[in-house]
Amino acid sequence: MSGTHKLRLGVNIDHVATIRNARGGNLPDPVRAALLAAEAGADGITAHLREDRRHISDGDIERLMDALTVPLNFEMAATPEMLEIALRHRPHAVCIVPERREERTTEGGLDAAGSHNRLASMVAELADASIRVSLFIEADPRQLDAATSLNVPVVELHTGAYCEACFAGDGVAAGRELERLTQASIEGAGMGLEMHAGHGLTFETVAPIAALADLHELNIGHFLIGEAIFDGLEGTIKKMRTLMDEARAETLVPQSS
Ligand code: PXP
Repeated sequence: MSGTHKLRLGVNIDHVATIRNARGGNLPDPVRAALLAAEAGADGITAHLREDRRHISDGDIERLMDALTVPLNFEMAATPEMLEIALRHRPHAVCIVPERREERTTEGGLDAAGSHNRLASMVAELADASIRVSLFIEADPRQLDAATSLNVPVVELHTGAYCEACFAGDGVAAGRELERLTQASIEGAGMGLEMHAGHGLTFETVAPIAALADLHELNIGHFLIGEAIFDGLEGTIKKMRTLMDEARAETLVPQSS
């Protein structure tokens, strides 16, 4: 597949809720942030309802479903409780992620290969409800195979290790991780999967990922919300959008020119 399609930006608003929850009460409101993000150019909004409700709340999901005019990508762990919530709200998309209570963020990809039996019925129930299901996985051929055998239409590649290597200044590891992501994006697209990516992306790390012609969507949260302190949410999202578009435009330039 060539890089002729637009790369969508999904803005993850979890950490607006993190700041709200630090004090209790209603401020800042993640739904207000979601609406502003959409106005600034986000193609979709992502929210992760964690089992421990440490940021996004059940009420936030309800209000997002009512207020959004762009698609909601509902991130959830593969639990019966979350399945019931997803089926009740029927968001545009569900992204199934691994979740451990003690982790600070989603630290690794889902073991789709090892949890095949547990995931199969959940994926089928979500698909029956016309919810587009994606799996958040490492850039690993085994996980791509498992995703295809689970019949999901989408996978999201975990970019965390690539971003960490960039920030550690370890160019060798960053190059290796980028190569893994490149190969997985090509291989996954070749298998008919719609390829997304995300985790840890910043202004500094986004361009090589956005340049991967087979990716359709990036999901970015923590950096955008943090950077908004300095430059406002609208300006920050617009800048990220521009960096993504510029990198994507580069991929359209034929190698020979
Ligand atoms: N994609 C998925 C599946 C995630 O779990 C997260 C983090 O919640 C992100 C993207 C966004 O990561 P970050 O907040 O580091 O940009």
